[in-house]
Amino acid sequence: MKKTLDEHAARFDDIAAEYDENKSEEYNECVRLVVEHATAGLSGDETVLDLATGTGAIALAVADAAGRVVGRDISEGMMAEARAKADERGVENVEFGEGRFRSPNYDGSVDVVTSNFAMHHLADDEKREAIDVIAGLDPEKIVLGDVMLFGEPNPEEPFFSPDVDDPATVGVLADAFTDAGYALTAVEMVHDHVGVLVAERA
Ligand SMILES: C[S@@+](CC[C@H](N)C(=O)[O-])C[C@H]1O[C@@H](n2cnc3c(N)ncnc32)[C@H](O)[C@@H]1O
Repeated sequence: MKKTLDEHAARFDDIAAEYDENKSEEYNECVRLVVEHATAGLSGDETVLDLATGTGAIALAVADAAGRVVGRDISEGMMAEARAKADERGVENVEFGEGRFRSPNYDGSVDVVTSNFAMHHLADDEKREAIDVIAGLDPEKIVLGDVMLFGEPNPEEPFFSPDVDDPATVGVLADAFTDAGYALTAVEMVHDHVGVLVAERA
């Protein structure tokens, strides 16, 4: 981790009010794919846990298709925006609260775990620990959209900021899912540095 959790939380608290403005095409496509994969096959009774939920881009978008959505994040400012959006839209089956990748503060049953554009804040060994913790909740499916490296990063066109971001290669993430007892069932490349991985209980 390049910054402490408190530093990340404070940074996101500061930008929470503007976070939803001017998102990149890659981010928007990643959200679309995470939602599509997370909701595929849901009957409407399932629980979705969205880790590092931020202002609720994924949590609110999957709420219609799920029975219950639990959003967890370290930034109260980001979650205040998520709660305001849920109120405005009349979404009643979503709750937001403090929780971390490696300590999600959730011990109920969960069918699908999602996370979008956040796990790259962790160092690779921390991502492995996070994936082990998520697997320990025993979801059927894990959908991870994130900054991840499909090839060598292009120094002329960096998609991420090395001072705050620490993206893994797709290979590192794939190995972590396999070691945790999950098999990759879809790999979507949105950009050389952005993708969506779908892992299902092996
Ligand atoms: C770039 S935002 C993404 C938010 C949302 N998932 C989205 O798709 O818009 C990253 C979020 O990750 C959260 N975050 C960073 N490190 C975290 C950690 N270790 N555990 C939980 N949340 C974390 C931040 O507070 C922030 O809300």
